[in-house]
Amino acid sequence: MTEVIDGEAVAADVRSDVADCVETLADAGVDPGLATVLMSDDPASETYVSMKQRDCEEVGIEGIHVDVDVDAPAETLFDTIDELNGREDVHGILVQLPVPDHVDTRSVLRRIDPTKDVDGFHPENVGRLVAGDARFKPCTPHGVQQLLAAYDVETEGADAVVVGRSDIVGKPMANLLIQKSPTGNATTTVCHSRTTDLAAKLADADIVVAAAGIPEFIDGSMLKAGATVIDVGINRVEADTEKGYELVGDVDYESASEVAGAITPVPGGVGPMTRAMLLYNTVKAAAHQRD
Ligand code: GUN
Repeated sequence: MTEVIDGEAVAADVRSDVADCVETLADAGVDPGLATVLMSDDPASETYVSMKQRDCEEVGIEGIHVDVDVDAPAETLFDTIDELNGREDVHGILVQLPVPDHVDTRSVLRRIDPTKDVDGFHPENVGRLVAGDARFKPCTPHGVQQLLAAYDVETEGADAVVVGRSDIVGKPMANLLIQKSPTGNATTTVCHSRTTDLAAKLADADIVVAAAGIPEFIDGSMLKAGATVIDVGINRVEADTEKGYELVGDVDYESASEVAGAITPVPGGVGPMTRAMLLYNTVKAAAHQRD
């Protein structure tokens, strides 16, 4: 029987721990604050940011939200970041990506104070992660790592395949999996759009992390029996539903769940964990800034 990995349940545990930390910090006179910045009119980005604000409210983190007009010059976004960098009540800053084409993403990420960079995307924090000395682990790979740990999935010596090489998921995920740590020590292969024979790479994988952003392109026939399958994809595809779309992962759940030993659903798998780890990073930032 395939085990369904319940991201909602593990995320609820993380949120509960975070809420305890918020209380401890409050007793010490620190009220953790997370600022989200949105420079986009993409409905999915708007939804993600409002969910993050709702999560803050649930655990007692002060949520601050700033909208920047999508047509504003890049300087307006930089000025917003500078202001948030200087605010003592803001411990974490998240600029929702993607930003519009006329804004250089790297410049945005470099502008955020690395001690408030709860995404872990600033080059200083990327470097620290690669060096095995992470300040903030990026939320999605960190969430995947927590899911694997919660379900006692052995990474030590396992063959892991990460499908996707994004800065947000694929690269940091592979880095975490190869690190010398109880949640690492996996022999890790990174596949991407130029990989010539993905099925051959997946055939021996004990752990598959699918993060390519292509709807349902990994199916059961490509997987090793008993593999742990972590589906990071959240793709909106047209469907005859009230909203006109449905969410599907990068993995064809139906066929994959017949082969996999354990699998994350979409929604309800990695998504809630990404959001929970953002809260975790925010209290971590607040605690560090206090010390
Ligand atoms: N857009 C998609 N995923 C993310 C994320 O983890 N952080 C930010 N800032 N933007 C995103």
